[in-house]
Amino acid sequence: MTEPRDREPLNAWHRLADTAVLLDGFHALKHALRFGAEVLVAVTTDRTAALALADELAPDVRGTLDVLLTEVPETAYRALVPRPHPTGVAALAVRPSRAGNLRTLARTPRTAPVIVLDQPRNLGNAGAVIRLAAGFGATGVVTTGTLDPWHPTVVRGGAGLHFATAVERMAVADLPPGPVFALDPEGEDIRAVKLPDDAVLAFGSERSGLSAELRGRTDHLVSLPMNPQVSSYNLATSVAMALFHWSAS
Ligand SMILES: C[S@@+](CC[C@H](N)C(=O)[O-])C[C@H]1O[C@@H](n2cnc3c(N)ncnc32)[C@H](O)[C@@H]1O
Repeated sequence: MTEPRDREPLNAWHRLADTAVLLDGFHALKHALRFGAEVLVAVTTDRTAALALADELAPDVRGTLDVLLTEVPETAYRALVPRPHPTGVAALAVRPSRAGNLRTLARTPRTAPVIVLDQPRNLGNAGAVIRLAAGFGATGVVTTGTLDPWHPTVVRGGAGLHFATAVERMAVADLPPGPVFALDPEGEDIRAVKLPDDAVLAFGSERSGLSAELRGRTDHLVSLPMNPQVSSYNLATSVAMALFHWSAS
């Protein structure tokens, strides 16, 4: 027996939710589509409002959204997502293959650095870094340690931009090729250093900084200008400054 039409996206959602990437809100869906994500199902509590938002903010993907978005009752939407988003939009996308991402990360020569977060702890920081990497066109974001860079909270923080850059977890021993510039307050002032396009820019964990293993792989230790009374910057703001320095030099 065929299901009534309005049940179809909900059935598809339940079938796919365990393996797909949740795009939470209009902006995450918009970003993911712009960077070529394969969106499997997309729902909204108000199609007219979502398409009006597309007209205003994302005319480039308006046509795709028109095809993808199915309106579902508010109660059904609330049952699909852990935290309802103010835009009432949610979607599921295919996670890019690890093999493909590893190929991207290993490819040389590179036109933009790879960011390494060495044993990060904070999921929000990791998401913010992925957003920065997308903004600056970095080749990828690699994490070492236990944090999953595709954790739903990281994806939420990354605003759908995991699809704009190669995001993977790796061991320090397997890091992509290229000179490793590790960021640490004890390093040489970054303003005197030109960061090459093939740089691997490494940042330490929020709690304990760079690990001994990462330090062992480091070619250059560089610091961000900072008042001596301040111990350190936040991880994501450090990545922002380093990427800005790379882009400006
Ligand atoms: C919150 S900090 C880590 C603080 C940690 N308590 C420590 O002992 O280093 C996180 C990371 O941001 C980067 N960072 C923060 N401030 C920096 C600075 N002034 N110069 C270079 N890197 C910095 C480093 O990579 C650092 O490991």
